[in-house]
Amino acid sequence: MVKVAVLGAAGGIGQPLSLLVKSNPLVTELALYDIVNTPGVAADLSHISTPAKVTGYKGDTELAAALAGADIVVIPAGVPRKPGMTRDDLFKINAGIVQTLANSAAKNCPKAFIAVISNPVNSTVPIVAEVFKKHGVFDPKRIFGVTTLDITRANTFVGQLGKGEIKDKSVTVIGGHSGVTIIPILSAEEIDALTHRIQYGGDEVVKAKDGAGSATLSMAYAGAQFVNALLDAVVLKKSGITQCTYVKSDVAAAEGVEYFSTVVELGPEGVAKIHPIPPLNEHEKKLYLAAIPELKANIEKGVAFVTSQS
Ligand code: NAI
Repeated sequence: MVKVAVLGAAGGIGQPLSLLVKSNPLVTELALYDIVNTPGVAADLSHISTPAKVTGYKGDTELAAALAGADIVVIPAGVPRKPGMTRDDLFKINAGIVQTLANSAAKNCPKAFIAVISNPVNSTVPIVAEVFKKHGVFDPKRIFGVTTLDITRANTFVGQLGKGEIKDKSVTVIGGHSGVTIIPILSAEEIDALTHRIQYGGDEVVKAKDGAGSATLSMAYAGAQFVNALLDAVVLKKSGITQCTYVKSDVAAAEGVEYFSTVVELGPEGVAKIHPIPPLNEHEKKLYLAAIPELKANIEKGVAFVTSQS
């Protein structure tokens, strides 16, 4: 029995992501939670002929039931960016939303794997971790920031340069999930053309949507890839499943950074092995050093948000 709960399931990401999770036959129950519209989304998805039983939960009073017994909790709840906004500008609203959802998850499914999509990911992952610490149920192997879209974009852009097929690309992207904290590991000829585009690919979508939000469909695709990888590792116990993901990690401890994305091997308990930062060339070393101050500030902001409350 595998229960996946999607929090923010009626949103731009939540709906297509729930559709893709419903398509995975390993899932036996799909619980959709939002503050609006979940009965309709649940009714719609429930007609799809895959095994998962779909249930809808709406509003605070139904959050506990949505989470009870969940094995995987995916969180795309919160506001997206509008043109001119950074991900950090979303902190004011999304920090509180993520904290509330994490509180309930810590109570109702403390052993679940938590995949955080809500931005700013650099800060919302530490928020979830601090909430779980407060409840005495923190396990760093089970809390993930979903940075998969950065890899999806990198693979697409590198593929479009014309050497080889997009489907065969697997670019490593390390660091965090915003602007300069996104560090793509590219070949020499790809660096100039693509570093900036991968770091700021999200802005292309925000600009094109012109006030109507940020990436939703490509994020849903990327989010489902991450959930499917987790299901393969946890349910099927497949070995060698890896994802770049933002987790509590010692790889950048020398710089005083507690959370960092590198290639992570997934296993039945979540994080099985965190790969080190790969050897960096001069260009990547500069990107790494440029990422550190912002990443540190984002993490401290998330931690302080929870720890400063009694
Ligand atoms: P959206 O506004 O379309 O959907 C958000 C949903 O969250 C709405 O249905 C809303 O009702 C719901 N919501 C609001 N407060 C809630 C609460 N307290 N509990 C449960 N649900 C609540 O936004 P969209 O486009 O789906 O984006 C969601 C988040 O994902 C944003 O923070 C966005 O920045 C982030 N994002 C992350 C990416 C990543 O790579 N990790 C990529 C793209 C977006």
